[in-house]
Amino acid sequence: MEHKQLVIGLFGFGVVGEGLYKILRQTPSLKANIKKVCIKHPGKKRNAPAELFTTDKDDLLNDPEINVIVEVINESGPAFEIVSTALKNGKDVVSASKKMIAENLPELLGLQQKTGRSFLYEAAACASIPVIRNLEEYYDNDLLHSIKAIVNGSTNFILTKIFEEGLDFKQALLLAQQLGFAESDPTLDVEGYDAVNKWVFLLTHAYGIVEEPGNILFNGIQNIHATDAKVAKEKNYNIKLVAQAKKLVNGKVAAFVLPQFVNHDDHLSFVKYEYNGVVIESGFADNQFFYGKGAGSFPTASAVLSDISALRYQYKYEYKKLYHHKPHELSNDIFLRVYVSFDDWDNIPKEKFEWIEEWHAQEERK
Ligand SMILES: NC(=O)c1ccc[n+]([C@@H]2O[C@H](COP(=O)([O-])OP(=O)(O)OC[C@H]3O[C@@H](n4cnc5c(N)ncnc54)[C@H](OP(=O)(O)O)[C@@H]3O)[C@@H](O)[C@H]2O)c1
Repeated sequence: MEHKQLVIGLFGFGVVGEGLYKILRQTPSLKANIKKVCIKHPGKKRNAPAELFTTDKDDLLNDPEINVIVEVINESGPAFEIVSTALKNGKDVVSASKKMIAENLPELLGLQQKTGRSFLYEAAACASIPVIRNLEEYYDNDLLHSIKAIVNGSTNFILTKIFEEGLDFKQALLLAQQLGFAESDPTLDVEGYDAVNKWVFLLTHAYGIVEEPGNILFNGIQNIHATDAKVAKEKNYNIKLVAQAKKLVNGKVAAFVLPQFVNHDDHLSFVKYEYNGVVIESGFADNQFFYGKGAGSFPTASAVLSDISALRYQYKYEYKKLYHHKPHELSNDIFLRVYVSFDDWDNIPKEKFEWIEEWHAQEERK
């Protein structure tokens, strides 16, 4: 098959967009060039020729020569507008915008079917780790017993600092912000929204499940106290924010994103600071572990580049588990062994617990 010449219209020239611009200049063999870049604030100084930039999205979306739109902006609403118009205008699209994808998944699936164009977004989950294409291409439905992952680098950085260096939550968060691993408004990361957004579409590629983020049980790390870290340490555990999905005996899938006590010999315990990791348990192959950088300019841009490269041979996600198999159903019919840390017993929904295995009470926390 002859490789397609790619003419790119790039939306966004921030951490990821500028990273991609630099990487593309170092990979001439790809035969992909950026024709125009759309940004929001025309006054900003850019490390690229001024004639490359525009603030008019139609300069890119209506240019018949541009056959690929790369969308790496930081606003979910406009990102969806850009991606859907591009697909309707017959262009292939690469995106890294996890929030936008999670919030609009059914519409995006419909648009791909209707237009027949490619929409690739490997960078949106675990950045440099090729997890989507592996779930899509390699693991058959029947063989994928479970998948668990650390998909958010900011919270992992904070938890590592708390556990390895004894920082308290506020100090660790501040450091993450200073080093660029956490946003100035850290809510999306810290409260688990970013992780559950990524989990939404990873579940589609793993099990054919299409669910809204709000329908998946999730919690962040905002309520973890120093006393909880102490308990975990005493029991020889780490605490990690883990996204998990597993097949139940009834054939349905349980999925959730929760902070978990993780054993020191667990692969995820090895994932420290801003790194991400994914453990896949599949029939016969046992456990496999993917590890790499889950954020940052070049690691994220490298996944965007890989998607662009795949467009040369018209690669598309087939959503095999959704369209070619019977998709799995999400179920809450599962018992979890949970550690509950609280100050007032009156706030605890006692009827939701089957039994209490251990009980500790100190003055402020129980
Ligand atoms: N940073 C990472 O490590 C990482 C990793 C994985 C995924 N992502 C995702 O990748 C996307 C981009 O992230 P980022 O870190 O590169 O963001 P960023 O550094 O904040 O840059 C955002 C860029 O988008 C432009 N922009 C915003 N609204 C726009 C609009 N309506 N039209 C055109 N351009 C617009 C901004 O323009 P101005 O320059 O004019 O302000 C800026 O260049 C986000 O969805 C993010 O979640 C990021």
